Formats: sequence, structure tokens, C-alpha cells
Amino acid sequence: MGRRKLVVGNWKMNGLRAQLGEVEAIGRAAGEHPAVEVGLCVPATLIEPARAVAGAAFIGAQDCHGARSGAHTGCLSAEMVREAGAGWVIVGHSERRTDQHESSADVAAKALAAREAGLKVILCLGESLDTRDGGKALDFVLEQLARSLPEGAGADWLSIAYEPIWAIGTGRIPTMEQIEEMHGAIRGALREALGADAADGVRILYGGSVNAGNAADIFALPDVDGGLVGGASLKAESFAPIIAAAA
Ligand code: G3P
Repeated sequence: MGRRKLVVGNWKMNGLRAQLGEVEAIGRAAGEHPAVEVGLCVPATLIEPARAVAGAAFIGAQDCHGARSGAHTGCLSAEMVREAGAGWVIVGHSERRTDQHESSADVAAKALAAREAGLKVILCLGESLDTRDGGKALDFVLEQLARSLPEGAGADWLSIAYEPIWAIGTGRIPTMEQIEEMHGAIRGALREALGADAADGVRILYGGSVNAGNAADIFALPDVDGGLVGGASLKAESFAPIIAAAA
């Protein structure tokens, strides 16, 4: 279907200028695999210096506000992170949905604000362990998608990341069948919402305990177009093999 694999590191609240050498090394690893689009979503304080050394990797932010400007102390607008050098932004990560009580409507607004500012967007979805164990994972994630999907969503600026909350930072991943089933269901829902042509271009990433040992199997699944990687993206030595697995 011609979707270029996309492998993105999410550094979360990790990284000082002392770690810019890792950004540089990851940029070099990205340059070795031009077939793969590689990026790092770093803390806002690192966007500008990371951009200067990231080479073939793009630099993204981890969040932006849904409003263009105004009285929102401590927040950053999409235009601000764009000006700092971000080309992409993650919205709706489960850590923000939980810690900052972000609703799916908030997430859709953030995605739209990001698009207006010229950013590409990775929209995150994912169920809790209780929801999975209760047999409701598909319903939950598709509902979250329907409520979070911004107006005018298109493959040129929007990607989806499926990150089951119980797989994040736990070393535990769903079975390959569970990943395939969820990604297929997300693709199906996108087809209904956007039409087949647009939906078939949207990249759907898997996130949650991706590492050098499991990446190739996960990336080979139908409708898995790459990964959103947390812990293993912090060091070039653990992230480079994941990039290579997508090539
Ligand atoms: O956004 C990526 C993330 O939530 C997955 O984290 O550490 O399980 O790869 P990790």
C-alpha cells in the first residue's frame, strides 16, 4: 500500500542538553535507513538544540495546547513548538489523558491547532488493562478514535498510535493477534470516517514496550506502519536496531 514506515521515539520527561549526543547518534542511525521516517519527540526545552543535531531524524513535541494563544499559564501553543523547530507533535498520549485529564475532545482540538500551525500529528489511543480484561478493548479504542479524530483528518498530516496502557513501560506486549486485530479495526474505522483512499494512507503505529527483540515481528504485521517507542528510544544503541527492524 506504499505507506512509509514511521518510527518515533517519545522521550517523555527525560533528556537534558547532556543527552544531545544521543540525538545526534539517532540522527545518524536514521540516515542509514532512508526508507524509514524517523523522529524523536523530545521535551520542549530540547526542541531547538535537538533540531540542530538531529540530522536525518525529525524533531517533534510531546503536546501542544488546543487554543492558539491566551491565558493558559505554563502551556505551549502549536505555533510555539513549531517556531522552536518541531515538525511533529504527539497528542492524546495516555499519560496526558490520565495525568492532565485530557478528554478526547481536547485531543481533537489539539490536533486541529497543530495542523493549523503546520505540524504533523501522532494521535494516541489505548485501553487500560481492566478494559482489555473485560473484553472491551476494541469498543473502547474505536470510541476514543471517533471522539479524538479531528475534522479534515488526512494521511498527509495525521498518524495514529495504538498504545495499550498496560504495555507502556511494563515489558509486556499484546499478542501479535491482538495487535493485528486492533490495527485492522482502527483501519476499518478510518475507512468509514475518511473513505478508503484517505484511510489507506494513514500510518498506524504500535507503542508499548517495543524493543530490539520484538520490533521486527510487530512491524511485519498488516496495518502496523511503525512504532512509537518510549524507553528504548532514549539511547541510540537500543533505538538504532528498532529503526533497522523497520527498514
Ligand atoms: O509513547 C511511547 C510509549 O508510551 C511507550 O513507552 O517505554 O513502553 O516503549 P515504552
